[in-house]
Amino acid sequence: MTFRFLVTDSIPDSGLQMMRDAGEVTVLPTAPNPAELRALCASGDYDVLLSQLADTVDGELLATAKLRGISNYAVGFNNIDVAVATAKGILVSNTPGVLTDATADIALLLLLGTARRVVEADALVRSGGFEGWKPQLMIGSDVAGQVLGLAGFGRIARATARRALGFGMDVVFSPRPPAERMVSDEELGEFAGKVRQLPWQDVVAQADFLSLHVPLTEDTRHLVDASVLAAMKPGAILINTARGPVVDEAALVTALREGIIAGAGLDVFENEPALAPGLAELPNTVLLPHVGSATGPVRSKMAVLAAANAIAMAKGQLPPHPVNPEALPA
Ligand code: GLV
Ligand code: GLV
Repeated sequence: MTFRFLVTDSIPDSGLQMMRDAGEVTVLPTAPNPAELRALCASGDYDVLLSQLADTVDGELLATAKLRGISNYAVGFNNIDVAVATAKGILVSNTPGVLTDATADIALLLLLGTARRVVEADALVRSGGFEGWKPQLMIGSDVAGQVLGLAGFGRIARATARRALGFGMDVVFSPRPPAERMVSDEELGEFAGKVRQLPWQDVVAQADFLSLHVPLTEDTRHLVDASVLAAMKPGAILINTARGPVVDEAALVTALREGIIAGAGLDVFENEPALAPGLAELPNTVLLPHVGSATGPVRSKMAVLAAANAIAMAKGQLPPHPVNPEALPA
């Protein structure tokens, strides 16, 4: 029996080759629109869909899908209606672990870049506006001694904490905002005595930099809304490398414009790839095109994980990184 894989956008050869060795691989030449993807998934021509964050795998698609599994080429899987997939006995998998450090690097890059105004400063030099050292030129914010507040305390949050401690920051966190959950010293491991857990509203109020590391769920949608922005320090900077809809982006534009907070570093947007009106005109922002995991080695490892997941699911087995193991028929 030969397995058939549908890949919606080309991924590194490390993964494509594994699937070619296991069966037939179809890589779509252009990203499918929702109707095209729905028809392809309903055709019965494929065992496993290798999907991207841009592919919406919703209840409507899943209702007619004839697939064994969906291998998402990402750690996040908010583009997939996992509850419906599970009900239909369709396995879903993701690519955790391999992009943790790369994404934490981007969180620190945005933190440093907003604090020290790297985009404005770079533009000044390129435009010929640099006239030599000046006492008042491009004054930014300190990082050492400042409080980094983390929303979430999973892999990427911890990797961000590790870096921030290296920069001499004070790190506080709330593990599952807006809900509370106590993290024991044992669970803190290497961070015991180095970072402090606080209630979410105290993290918000104390942070000089607030960095978001939560998955997008109904509980975290607009976790940072106008009221949270108003509760932040006026000098605070918001960093988002998680998912755009965790922030009410229109409220953020207003807060940045009115000086309710001082800046924002964003790798993700609420209606990606569109930006909230006014966001791109604000000088106190650093805006990146969702590149948290974008290094050659990381993308290659993601491809290997996604392929290993896809091959296992095609065989009717539990993948190495299942999101819904309960979907496997007993
Ligand atoms: C990227 O955002 C991912 O979830 O891997
Ligand atoms: C994602 O991999 C996380 O656990 O933060």
